[in-house]
Amino acid sequence: MKTVNTAIIGGGLMGKEVASAFGRWFALNDFPVKVQLTAVCDLNPQALQWYRQIPSVELLTTDYKELLKKEDIDVVYVALPHHLHREYYLEVLESGKDLLAEKPFGIDLEAAVAIRDKARELGRFVRCSSEMPFLPGAQRVYAEALSGRIGRILDIRAGFLHSSDMDPEKPINWKRQEAFCGKIGVMGDLGMHVMHLPLRLGWKPADVFARLQKIVTERPDGKGGRAVCDTWNNATLLTTLELEGETVPMSLEMKRLAPGETNTWLIEINGTEGGVKYSTKDTKALWRFHRSGEQVWQRTDLGFQVPFPTVTGGIFEPGFPDCFMQMLAAYFAEREGALGSRLGCVTPDEAVSSHQVFKAALESHLSGSVVKVAYD
Ligand SMILES: NC(=O)c1ccc[n+]([C@@H]2O[C@H](COP(=O)([O-])OP(=O)(O)OC[C@H]3O[C@@H](n4cnc5c(N)ncnc54)[C@H](O)[C@@H]3O)[C@@H](O)[C@H]2O)c1
Repeated sequence: MKTVNTAIIGGGLMGKEVASAFGRWFALNDFPVKVQLTAVCDLNPQALQWYRQIPSVELLTTDYKELLKKEDIDVVYVALPHHLHREYYLEVLESGKDLLAEKPFGIDLEAAVAIRDKARELGRFVRCSSEMPFLPGAQRVYAEALSGRIGRILDIRAGFLHSSDMDPEKPINWKRQEAFCGKIGVMGDLGMHVMHLPLRLGWKPADVFARLQKIVTERPDGKGGRAVCDTWNNATLLTTLELEGETVPMSLEMKRLAPGETNTWLIEINGTEGGVKYSTKDTKALWRFHRSGEQVWQRTDLGFQVPFPTVTGGIFEPGFPDCFMQMLAAYFAEREGALGSRLGCVTPDEAVSSHQVFKAALESHLSGSVVKVAYD
């Protein structure tokens, strides 16, 4: 079986998540390629220590240029703070390798466009991370939206809710500072996850009215002092779609101040004939609406019906590591031309579209008005 050699730049939270999924790649049934982690770069030598336990890793380095020189690496996953995306993603592409990027795919729209255009120019295979749509419930929502059973769409709500900013005494990190996270703040952190399915369904907002909130503006700096925390904590976007001659509202919520929510990803689509909703708050539950005399919201308990079958039994519950692995499987299957009709990872064009919406949202918040989204 063909082996795809991969490398990671940025061995923090997400680098480890990717390495763990590669480490159990054999759980995928009849997958077309084997994927193996061979090199890892992190500026912090301490962060590299964890990767010593992975037998296939030949190179641990603090110098990403050394990693990119290795000719036998096919794909690089880059998981770095947002201000570094543009420079590192472009260098990966120029080194002749394919890229699995992290969101938000550049710190701003300009960076996202530069990365997309370079990938196009060099013909590299590039996709961006967004794993929640690979959960069985999200997959069913996607299928239901495509089925035509929903009728005329009345409204759509999608969101990603965290409580990660609720503790004001949590020390600051790069995700809470504009210089590293970006002016779009929480939209850059959570927005790609929210927009992946809507954009794939062709639901590109025509305009947006946004309300952004900065609530926690200072945090401990971890060294006994205080530091300015200048990112948006919460973003509520009311957008409009033009669908088959009708104007349909779609609300998009991205919040790091959502009391009690740990990692709640949700989507709801209401229509005249049917409807569907799913939230990771109740991971197994798929809700579908139908009208036949009485109006009924019907709950189905889902099992492990993932797009890329694994050794896991069909009635067992999936979780974050599972949808992350499914997303990686979608990346490598699509790279091999073996995705078929399954959902793929976020494309560079979709990533650029999300930035176009977030840019309009920033303008809307500042002007207090509805702003048309400017696409390419
Ligand atoms: N898909 C998801 O669900 C998800 C979740 C969290 C974060 N992310 C994204 O992943 C990316 C990384 O986030 P994270 O949570 O892993 O961050 P992190 O802070 O945990 O890890 C970043 C790592 O990069 C290293 N680093 C910093 N500058 C470097 C440089 N110049 N060269 C090499 N290494 C360097 C740091 O030492 C650190 O180990 C971001 O784009 C973030 O938005 C995605």
